[in-house]
Amino acid sequence: MDVKKIAVIGSGLMGSGIAYVSAWNGFEVTMVDINQDLVDKGMERLRTDVMTGIDKGKMSITQAEGLMSRLSGSVDAEAAVKDADLVIEAIFENMEVKKEVFAKIDSAAPAHCILATNTSSLSIDELASATSRPDKFIGMHYFSPVPAMKLLEIVLGDKTSADTINVAKAVGEKQGKKTVLAKNSPGFIVNRLLMPVMREAILMLERGDATKEEIDTAMVSVGKAPAGPFSLADFVGLDITFNAMSTLYREIGDCFKPPETLAKLVESGAIGMKSKKGFYDYAADDAEPEEPKGADSEWIVERLNMPAIREAMILIDDEIANKEDINMAMKLGASWPMGPFEMADRYGLDRCREFIGKLESELGECYSVPKSLK
Ligand SMILES: NC(=O)c1ccc[n+]([C@@H]2O[C@H](COP(=O)([O-])OP(=O)(O)OC[C@H]3O[C@@H](n4cnc5c(N)ncnc54)[C@H](O)[C@@H]3O)[C@@H](O)[C@H]2O)c1
Repeated sequence: MDVKKIAVIGSGLMGSGIAYVSAWNGFEVTMVDINQDLVDKGMERLRTDVMTGIDKGKMSITQAEGLMSRLSGSVDAEAAVKDADLVIEAIFENMEVKKEVFAKIDSAAPAHCILATNTSSLSIDELASATSRPDKFIGMHYFSPVPAMKLLEIVLGDKTSADTINVAKAVGEKQGKKTVLAKNSPGFIVNRLLMPVMREAILMLERGDATKEEIDTAMVSVGKAPAGPFSLADFVGLDITFNAMSTLYREIGDCFKPPETLAKLVESGAIGMKSKKGFYDYAADDAEPEEPKGADSEWIVERLNMPAIREAMILIDDEIANKEDINMAMKLGASWPMGPFEMADRYGLDRCREFIGKLESELGECYSVPKSLK
């Protein structure tokens, strides 16, 4: 099927970004929200992206006019989907609300229309169950900010058809994204691999293995990451990190339990840069770094890379995604300098087996050696 018209439900941060990359790449788009004020806000956000495009010389005035002419706003979801080929939902992260919206859209959309959700954490199969077309239901998980981030995780439900996957891939590619496939599973690829690193970094801090400054510095200088885990979490928001980790804890189990330090910071309202305090204090100019523990930078990086390599191997063992897609997802979605399998190749599989085996004997089953490494 050749998608011409897309209805985007939700005109917030993600919805307006998805509408932007869609209209910019030639799709007819209607962006929907619950009232006119919110639609207008979404349009305003989108216009700011268009102005940025013009200012950076990426878009001419004529192209900007073309983009805007392909875009409309609406408060009537049923009318917006009635001639759509694809609906992309980007409303609040709430299962019941999303299911209600999908049931309504399902009865108003034409039979050929594909329904996609941008959920970060909810089950694609459960969302699909609210519709009469689970074969035409799929996850299209974009990353923020949508115009800049190159990755699109395409998430397959149990009943998603091959045609639906092909259409979602083709739309993503036309929107300028690199697409990776993941089966419906908690955290998909990127969050599933980011959370063990974040969690391990906090546990290292709690055990007194290293200070947050030592960990962040090591990950940037030796690990070549764009930011260390603590600065990154403060930037993303500790509330968002906590929620992502809690989802994995709920769905997978204790090995993803959010550490107490993180829970306490969130509880106290210290949720990162947006509240001027998270792991670091952004209000105090004279905040003193903690007394260094003298931890070796090479060791810190290896100690944080190994749990990510282990988790990536579990995704392979459980047939959730393939190696190439996992490597690409982490490089594009998390700006890692290398994919986890590229790291594993660099360390050598014997070294990975030995390192993870030692962690398992010291710290227990959350560090068990994955099947494919045995
Ligand atoms: N923010 C991120 O970094 C990010 C990244 C990937 C995925 N997501 C997912 O994208 C979705 C949206 O996130 P967001 O950050 O854009 O949220 P947001 O709060 O910025 O926007 C949500 C919008 O949906 C609208 N909405 C709520 N109910 C609606 C309904 N019934 N019909 C139409 N519109 C409705 C709200 O009014 C709001 O404008 C969530 O599922 C989230 O998990 C977010």
